[in-house]
Amino acid sequence: MTYDPMYDLIPAHFAHELSGRPSMGYVSGEDWIDDLPGLIADLLAEWELEPIGRPSSGVCAVVIPVRLLGAGRDVVGVSGEGVLKITWPHPEAATEHLALQAWNGHGAVRLVRADPSRFALLLERLHTRDLSNVDIDDACGVIGDLLRVLRRPAHPRMPSLTAYALRQADELRAAPPVLPRRYLDQAAALATELAERPAEERLLHTDLHYTNVLAAYRSPWLAIDPKPMAGDSAFEVAPALWNRTDELGTGSQVRWSLRRRLEIICERAGIDEGRARAWTIVREADNAVAAAAGASGDATSQAHARDQVSLAVTIIKAMND
Ligand SMILES: Nc1ncnc2c1ncn2[C@@H]1O[C@H](COP(=O)(O)OP(=O)(O)O)[C@@H](O)[C@H]1O
Ligand SMILES: [Mg+2]
Repeated sequence: MTYDPMYDLIPAHFAHELSGRPSMGYVSGEDWIDDLPGLIADLLAEWELEPIGRPSSGVCAVVIPVRLLGAGRDVVGVSGEGVLKITWPHPEAATEHLALQAWNGHGAVRLVRADPSRFALLLERLHTRDLSNVDIDDACGVIGDLLRVLRRPAHPRMPSLTAYALRQADELRAAPPVLPRRYLDQAAALATELAERPAEERLLHTDLHYTNVLAAYRSPWLAIDPKPMAGDSAFEVAPALWNRTDELGTGSQVRWSLRRRLEIICERAGIDEGRARAWTIVREADNAVAAAAGASGDATSQAHARDQVSLAVTIIKAMND
């Protein structure tokens, strides 16, 4: 293989991680990684971008800091800097640009341009600081405030939360007993109930946790990475509960910590707590079943699945008591 300088823009652990992913309706992780250097080079040339810093990556995307040499500089402000985010194609990422367009920079990162066919976005550059090290009560306050700012009417092209709930009702009922049966049955019943009594449909940020909120110059905090859907705002609370879990404490503190996070976010966002608890139970049951089903034979993957399942039990219990 000849050396391609674009490989320097792809973090090695990201390439390794992605290589194991089977296609989710588009392209396998391995084939995508093979084509990624060419894709980066094409986008840098077409969009007139110069790479200027160390790339970061999340679970599914590589994010390259860039200077805008051509169009779009008016959108990013005086710095002239942005980031090129290229995501491994999967359904959740297909509508990210539409949600960012709808928010138009209010409460969320600004979108400069997008090429949905290549899952490529050019975004304004934010700081590297996120909510991971902010006092947990304050961080939950920020998340609640952002959810209120981000609230918009549903967008017609977003995946429907009601359809998700109906699917979960069937899947959780039929799932193997990775969780105590009563929790799976409860989650399935709640999913049916939530689908039958829908709340007003909104544009949702379904992944608003502590590393998906970044500091900025023009606003203290902005949301990124929305994985948008259309449906009940109460769905949006759970990711702030299942992240930063090493700070939940032990014994009876755990329930208290989780309920406090839930209360702060619901109060600040104007979300009904009962519905947020119900959605959290459904989402955690879904996470546990998916983690158990997705675990491969190796010990690390098995251990990860066990952790996910035990976290789900902890959170579901805390939502019930
Ligand atoms: N606009 C931005 N400015 C600066 N850094 C960013 C920006 N968007 C994303 N990042 C960095 O890239 C990481 C991954 O991006 P993200 O959109 O969260 O993708 P993923 O779906 O992979 O989690 C973020 O956690 C953050 O560190
Ligand atoms: Mg992210």
